[in-house]
Amino acid sequence: MTAPPDRGYLPGRSLSLTRATQTEGRAGDADVPTRIDMAKFAKFCKDMGFVYQSSEIYGGINGFWDYGPLGVELKRNIKEAWWQDMVRNPPPGPDGQEIRMVGLDCSIIMNPKVWVASGHVATFADPTRKCPGCGKFTRADQLWAILAESEWMNSLIQEFTPATGQYDTHRLMKWARGKGQKLAPNLALVKNPEVTLSFLATRVNGQPDAPPSLQEFTRYVATEQLEATGLQEPCPACGAPLGEAKQVSLMFESHAGLDKTDESKVYLRPETAQGIFANYRNVLDSTRLKLPFGIAQVGKAFRNEVTPRNFTFRSREFEQMEIEFFCHPAESQQWYEYWRDLRKKWYSTLGIRSDNLKPREQGKDEIAFYSIGTTDIEYLFPFSDDPQELEGVAHRGAYDLTQHAKHSGVNEKFMYFDEERWNADAGTRTTNSFKEWMKTNPPAADVEKYQFTPHVIEPSAGADRFTLAVLCEAYTEDKVPDAKGNEETRIVMKFHPRLAPIKAAIFPLVNKDGMPEKATELYRALKPYFNVFFDDKGAVGRRYRRQDEAGTPFCITIDGQTMQDDTVTIRDRDTLKQERVKMSDVRGVIEKALTPGV
Ligand code: GAP
Repeated sequence: MTAPPDRGYLPGRSLSLTRATQTEGRAGDADVPTRIDMAKFAKFCKDMGFVYQSSEIYGGINGFWDYGPLGVELKRNIKEAWWQDMVRNPPPGPDGQEIRMVGLDCSIIMNPKVWVASGHVATFADPTRKCPGCGKFTRADQLWAILAESEWMNSLIQEFTPATGQYDTHRLMKWARGKGQKLAPNLALVKNPEVTLSFLATRVNGQPDAPPSLQEFTRYVATEQLEATGLQEPCPACGAPLGEAKQVSLMFESHAGLDKTDESKVYLRPETAQGIFANYRNVLDSTRLKLPFGIAQVGKAFRNEVTPRNFTFRSREFEQMEIEFFCHPAESQQWYEYWRDLRKKWYSTLGIRSDNLKPREQGKDEIAFYSIGTTDIEYLFPFSDDPQELEGVAHRGAYDLTQHAKHSGVNEKFMYFDEERWNADAGTRTTNSFKEWMKTNPPAADVEKYQFTPHVIEPSAGADRFTLAVLCEAYTEDKVPDAKGNEETRIVMKFHPRLAPIKAAIFPLVNKDGMPEKATELYRALKPYFNVFFDDKGAVGRRYRRQDEAGTPFCITIDGQTMQDDTVTIRDRDTLKQERVKMSDVRGVIEKALTPGV
């Protein structure tokens, strides 16, 4: 028997995300890198084959990403874990009963009337400011966060002490004539430093007890004609004063058919949810499901984001994992709480530390007008001090079905008649015909017991965003002994075994004495069940390191003893412990680690 070929998708050299690039840690998280330089992290992900920039050989394209050989396995595992735990095997509902879930796979391009009904055509937009200097757009509500990442701002900030409001005119002048020319050529401070600094000096001297904050300082250095324009806000790219905020649609447009007219205009879906609503009646009719039940979909969504940023966090093409859970209005609050709590727990069971998960109930100022309640499950990504949305769990009331009833004109299709409840109450009425009973003008609340537009609870997660969170969470550097017992730093991706791209690596200790053949036998026995990797290249210590960087939970070594008693060693990635087990038990050990925990 010949050894299986090296599948060759693991990089052969060690990479390190330099700790020096991380700023200070967050309180209480001593062992976890809290701020990561995302550019360096993206490089690590690229070098390892997790994530590549789309069309990189042509300079890339902003907001689009590709998954490499390890990344595609990771993301598939995430989507499969979600489907398994939410659709095929969700835990019982609040009443202890099994819950009913089915799936859908809808087209990306739908009849554009769907997006009129959902409100996307009219309102799916972000406030955006255009730069008259360089023509770039910036999302207005994220201006200060984007400025904080801009190169010129990070350079200029060295010349200002935000705590005291102090600055040195000579240094600012020097910056304006030097670095500023290159980094922010359209900034007022660069174009006309004397005038700009005179405005700033008047402000500082006029209120010596109230020094300007960093934001105010930034507005001053962006202002050339204070009286005519008031304080300005600068473009993160070139420093020119930004224009007024305007709502800009995030919908990607195309045309169906050869005629490129308004009539043939279509949209790439910005969410998977609407395909579910549009098929709600089809699912009911073809499955005879009874309320409450959920419909799930995983698929691509497209948003022409104004400022894609933070690696894959905000992309223009991404995948969603969405559930629309339909229930009786009277039961909707308990289902909202059920899904909110379940979804947070799900992330923890897949290795996200619960203190990095921050569910946050949306406030009145941010919640959608139709929503009865929305909780954002936020995650403390290492590129930000503030937690960022991983998933939204929304109580959408009857909004979506009502909208589609109105716009499609098939109103009755969206009403639900609860036959079971109607029949259960048969003894309380004189007739068993609903139509007859309606003629008696029963109170609306009584009618709604039997016939109503279902309420919807929507847990809406991002597959790419969760993949990014998993990558960030897994990235660890620790100290381990090398072959000679000296401490060395290793990078280890501590993925939960269910998510790990490779579940086990199989090594013959040496390439002789029948070990490669034995290792191949084990590899072939495991391959039908798990994504396993065969590696016979280099010292075994190096092979371990490669697998640590890929996040493989188990390394199995075939050694001299295997040849005598059919036992192998299994090394645990995290504890480094090696256990000797029978070859025939290896499959069971891996299976146990992959058993879902929800
Ligand atoms: N149907 C509801 C809906 O789409 P959303 O909060 O706009 O709600 C749900 O999106 C999830 O989709 C987010 O929590 C996030 O995980 C993911 N998502 C949204 N926009 C994204 C983007 N530009 N890039 C990556 N993921 C995104």
